[in-house]
Amino acid sequence: MLGYRHAFHAGNHADVLKHVVLLQLVDYLAAKDKPFWYIDTHAGAGRYTLTQGYAAEQREYVGGVEKLWNAGVLPEALARYVELVRTLNPHHRLKYYPGSPWIARARMRPQDRLWLHELHPADYALLEQEFASGPVPARVCGEDGYAGLKALLPPEPRRALVLIDPSYEVREDYVRLIDALKQALRRFATGVYMVWYPMIPRRESRELPARLATLAPERWLRAELVVRAADAAHGLYGSGVFVVNPPFTLRSALAESLPRLTMLLGLDRHATFTLEGSAD
Ligand SMILES: C[S@@+](CC[C@H](N)C(=O)[O-])C[C@H]1O[C@@H](n2cnc3c(N)ncnc32)[C@H](O)[C@@H]1O
Repeated sequence: MLGYRHAFHAGNHADVLKHVVLLQLVDYLAAKDKPFWYIDTHAGAGRYTLTQGYAAEQREYVGGVEKLWNAGVLPEALARYVELVRTLNPHHRLKYYPGSPWIARARMRPQDRLWLHELHPADYALLEQEFASGPVPARVCGEDGYAGLKALLPPEPRRALVLIDPSYEVREDYVRLIDALKQALRRFATGVYMVWYPMIPRRESRELPARLATLAPERWLRAELVVRAADAAHGLYGSGVFVVNPPFTLRSALAESLPRLTMLLGLDRHATFTLEGSAD
C-alpha cells in the first residue's frame, strides 16, 4: 500500500475533476463568515512539482491540467480552477500543481481549520513542511485517515467539508471508506462529504457509487468523467466524485463544466460524462 505516491498522477484527468469539485465546495463554505473545518483523510503531499521527479516520469498532467491551462475561455468553475493553479505558477509556466489541502487552504480563513491525514512517511514530511505555518491553522497527522475522521466528528464549528480520497491500491479501501462514511454520517449528518473513486475494470469500483447512494439516499450528487474506452490494459479509464449534502450551486456549475471537460480531456469516442443526483 505504501508504494503509492500521488506525485506520479498529479494533475491528471482524475485530479482535474476532483479538484474542480473540491474548489466549488470550499468556495461555497467560505462564502459565509462562520468558521468551518476541512478534513482530508488521504491528503497526499499537498503540492507537487510537475517538471521533475515522479510527476515528470509519466507526465500524466499533460492529459489533464495542462489541457485546461492552454485552453481559451472556460466555463466559470473551470476558469476558477485554472486561476488557482496559476497562483502557484506566477511565471506563466506550468511547473507546480496544488494537491487537495493546498486548494482548500487557498480559500480558507484564519477562523477555519485544516485537519490533514497522510500515512506515507515521505508525503507526510512534505505535507508537514508545507502546512507547518500559514494563515490557516492546520494539524498534520501521520496516522490512518479513517480513524482520524471518526475522532474529529462532530466538528466544533458544526460546519465541515470532508474529503475521502484513498488510493484504492488495496481492495480494503472500498470497504473501509463505506464504513467510515456511514459512521461519519451518524456522528455528523449535515457535513459536506466528498468521495473520489476510480473507474477501473474491477467489480468493487463499478459497485461503489450505488453503495454510496444507499448511505444518504436523499442528498447526494455524483459526477463522472470517462476519458477513454474501458479496457483492462489501460486501467483507469475515468473517475468519479460522489458528494453527500451538495450545495445547491454545485449541480449547475458541473452541468456547465462537464461537457467542456469531456471535450478537453477525452481521448477517444468513448469519452463521456455523467451527472446525476438523488433529486433525479
Ligand atoms: C489519492 S492520494 C491523495 C491525493 C490528495 N487527496 C489530492 O487530491 O491531492 C491518496 C493518499 O493517501 C495515502 N494513504 C493511503 N492509505 C491511507 C490511510 N489509511 N490514511 C491516510 N493516508 C493514507 C497515500 O499515501 C496517498 O498519499
